[in-house]
Amino acid sequence: MTDYANALIDNLPKAELHLHIEGTLEPEMMLELAKRNGVRLPYQNVAQVREAYQFDCLQDFLDLYYMGMSVLLHEQDFHDLTVAYLQKVALDGLTHVELFFDPQAHTDRGVSFETVLGGLVSALEQGHRELGISAKLIMCFLRHLPEEQAFDTLNTACKHKEHIYAVGLDSSEKGFPPENFSRVFAAARKAGFVAVAHAGEEGPAEYVKTSLDDLNVQRVDHGNRALDDAALTARLVREQTPLTMCPLSNLRLKGIPDLASSPVKKALDAGLLVSVNSDDPSYFGGYLNDNYRAVHQALGLHEEEIITLAKNSFASSFLEDKQKQKAMDKVDEVAKSLKANSGI
Ligand code: ADE
Ligand code: ZN
Repeated sequence: MTDYANALIDNLPKAELHLHIEGTLEPEMMLELAKRNGVRLPYQNVAQVREAYQFDCLQDFLDLYYMGMSVLLHEQDFHDLTVAYLQKVALDGLTHVELFFDPQAHTDRGVSFETVLGGLVSALEQGHRELGISAKLIMCFLRHLPEEQAFDTLNTACKHKEHIYAVGLDSSEKGFPPENFSRVFAAARKAGFVAVAHAGEEGPAEYVKTSLDDLNVQRVDHGNRALDDAALTARLVREQTPLTMCPLSNLRLKGIPDLASSPVKKALDAGLLVSVNSDDPSYFGGYLNDNYRAVHQALGLHEEEIITLAKNSFASSFLEDKQKQKAMDKVDEVAKSLKANSGI
């Protein structure tokens, strides 16, 4: 990797658009919260937790992800989790985040929606104040649970509309097609929420299509399998629908055999509006810049492509057009000064 490429990855301003806050729970914090809250875990130490992080597919991961988050009980826990993430990624040059949370994974075990949201909102306010990071919240519906429960969650979210920008769809994908949630998404859009959905992570290209047509999503999370379908790819290019890809996640969940098979380069070459994100960084071995470094090395990305990925992260965001432009201009400005300093 050239010094210039390294400097770009380390220093360019970036947005993160595909990040599950519960997936930032580091083993150290998991054990600390377990102790603080008197929750029993099947692990004695950090090494045992990390050893358990071997996944053959999305479901393997989800089983541990839902178990791990059982230590999150109080508003302070959600606050601490979110502040820890923001402090880490502030060092990665992150200036804006649109983060997912999974309320049903908490309300299902007796933790109230307000406890979760209160902790996230106070942490995001602190992150804005102290680290200069702007944020939007995306509330995901768990697609393995019934439509009725998603409606209940939506009704609660409507009481907190000022804090939640968008709705999303996550959890087990295969066998749980987007159209199961057409009515929930229609109601959410009617209530004023923007829509996104995980699609084409393990599920087929068809799920990307139905996310667009039935859920009216403005952005697709992952979207890898869309590249299997030439007509769909052409449509995504034409409509410049953002795809939030997550290379290390794909590797660890065996969606790809190696990083060289990551679709990020193919997506860039096709003219798709693709960004690089970390998904569940504590579980997948890397935060935002680790994902940039991974694709740069494995795919031999040119420096210009690193700059494009950083700009795409803002272009794909839900910032207002003026803010997007300002952020993208800043990326160019920082890249230019890094180039001058690298002597290239
Ligand atoms: N929930 C957390 N991470 C997820 C992922 N990568 N896919 C689907 N659901 C998730
Ligand atoms: Zn995800």
